[in-house]
Amino acid sequence: MAKELVAASQLDAIIAKLDIVEVISEYVALKKNGKNFKALCPFHEEKTPSFIVNPEKQIFHCFGCGIGGNVIRFIMAIENLSFPDAVMAASKKAGIQLDISGYKPADEEKKARLIRANEVAAKIYRESLFSPQGKRAMDYLFERNLTEKEITHFALGFAPNSRDYLARQISEKKLNKEDFVKSGLLNEQSTDVFRNRIMFPIFDLQGNITGFGGRGLDDSVLPKYLNTGENPVFNKSRLLYGINWAKESIKSKKFVLIVEGYFDVLKLHSNGIENCVAPMGTSLTDSHLNFLKRFTDKILLIFDSDEAGIKASLRNLDSVLSRGFETKICLLPVDFDPDRFVDEYGIDAFKKMMGQSKNFLEFVLTVESQRNDINTPKGKSSIAKEILRFVSLIPDEIEKYEYVKILADKLNLKETLLNTYLKEMVKTEKEKGNGGEIKRKISSPNDLAENLLIEILLSENSFWNQLAEWKGLLTKRMELIATTSKKLLANNINITPANLISKVDQDTGNWISEILVKTGTNLPEEKKQQIFQDCLKKIHKFCIWKQVGEMKQKIAEKKASGISYNEELVKMQGLLFELKKE
Ligand code: GTP
Ligand code: MN
Repeated sequence: MAKELVAASQLDAIIAKLDIVEVISEYVALKKNGKNFKALCPFHEEKTPSFIVNPEKQIFHCFGCGIGGNVIRFIMAIENLSFPDAVMAASKKAGIQLDISGYKPADEEKKARLIRANEVAAKIYRESLFSPQGKRAMDYLFERNLTEKEITHFALGFAPNSRDYLARQISEKKLNKEDFVKSGLLNEQSTDVFRNRIMFPIFDLQGNITGFGGRGLDDSVLPKYLNTGENPVFNKSRLLYGINWAKESIKSKKFVLIVEGYFDVLKLHSNGIENCVAPMGTSLTDSHLNFLKRFTDKILLIFDSDEAGIKASLRNLDSVLSRGFETKICLLPVDFDPDRFVDEYGIDAFKKMMGQSKNFLEFVLTVESQRNDINTPKGKSSIAKEILRFVSLIPDEIEKYEYVKILADKLNLKETLLNTYLKEMVKTEKEKGNGGEIKRKISSPNDLAENLLIEILLSENSFWNQLAEWKGLLTKRMELIATTSKKLLANNINITPANLISKVDQDTGNWISEILVKTGTNLPEEKKQQIFQDCLKKIHKFCIWKQVGEMKQKIAEKKASGISYNEELVKMQGLLFELKKE
């Protein structure tokens, strides 16, 4: 995913002209701290600063949430911009006229192709819905109380029950089939993926169509819902259905409603409740929540009150609370989702239900009181502990202790007792390393070797050539760094942390910034060479061990299904031999 080098020199000029400290200061109150600057991280909730800016290397990194990179990455994250848009914004700040003709990083171009394919398909599906062959689908939508106007507004469509309805039109229009295969609309054999389904285009924040949800028109069509498979523009753990229509309303109403299904979103939107979105068949992820944080810090979860619904609310509650959202829960009668509830009882009844939402503490108290007998000491203790576990996830101290007060009152227990227990709980959680705020990965010896390599490479440019000449194996991210640096060297571009980061993907950028902000190991000059070579060897061996593991897995699989695995055994021997070599 390395960004194209077309405009590399321009990009580097922009990065070089801007001072990261100045740019970040426009958004965050930075405090000088030794060589660095420190602040409360603008990307996650925290009480003590773990957001570091290093002026010397022109990078930032947060040890709390792991985000990091150069000035472009910061602008992308804080302004919620795509890479090209962030470069554009940065060029304005730097006062550099950007020549964008022919300028598009490779992965942006790829994404644009997938989106174009989706938009073509959406149009084809829409035409099909409004044509005679879409009549049954249209009637079905009318039956579900959607009007023609709403169907158009939400850009719904219909994929007919044919193996090549879409494929044929793509051929006729002489479009590139490969784009449609990559966007998950056609199979490898160029047949339609979606058949006999109502099509819900799924938009991103900017209104691009990133993929589809397709609901079977008959109960016999399985699965009931089929979503676009994961691809560079369609990431289920990041996208929320309805966000494009909901964003303004979420901001103005100051909260977001989370429902479960496509029809729920549509039904509420068409009845004037527009601050509503749905994850697509998954629980709320950290990405969903970080994304929503830009719009609001209040969430209303709406669920069916059957066992599955309650379990789903509890599952979401953990992540929502630990991301610092004020959380309420609205339970609908068993077997009702918002769509069905509104059809049956009307929107006013639904609003009334919303008005009766419980805060998370009342909700957990109700659930736990059904699971335990509150009149026995043991039961009461279980209830208190379970609720305190949720309370302990809340990042804000004042909020936390307000809930303790309420809980003490409800259970008729001493506040001090609950507070002591809570403190104990927070402590052990932190020791376990999952305090809700900071999740640190334990470094493996291989991680350490990679980190040292990066540190050495970026401390002295002379090491890049050694990396380029290295014949052994490298991990994926080191491979990416090696190829990127080779290109930069070939173009006579000086490699600095900030311009290296702008040419790799975000995860790799986060990682590089973390290493550089952390360094201070001050490796002795005379040892660097030795350490560098040792690290390369270590990484090589690590890669071989990984292959050994994969080979073992393959052998086990073949063995289990009675297939001969001689070939794998030979390879395995080769690998083990390689490991014995110095
Ligand atoms: P209707 O029954 O048409 O009202 O749909 P619904 O949205 O109420 O469906 P349901 O409550 O069964 O599921 C809620 C959401 O979970 C759906 O909107 C989908 O996003 C997801 N989902 C449900 N069934 C499937 C499935 O078979 N596959 C996948 N991938 N997702 C599903
Ligand atoms: Mn439903």
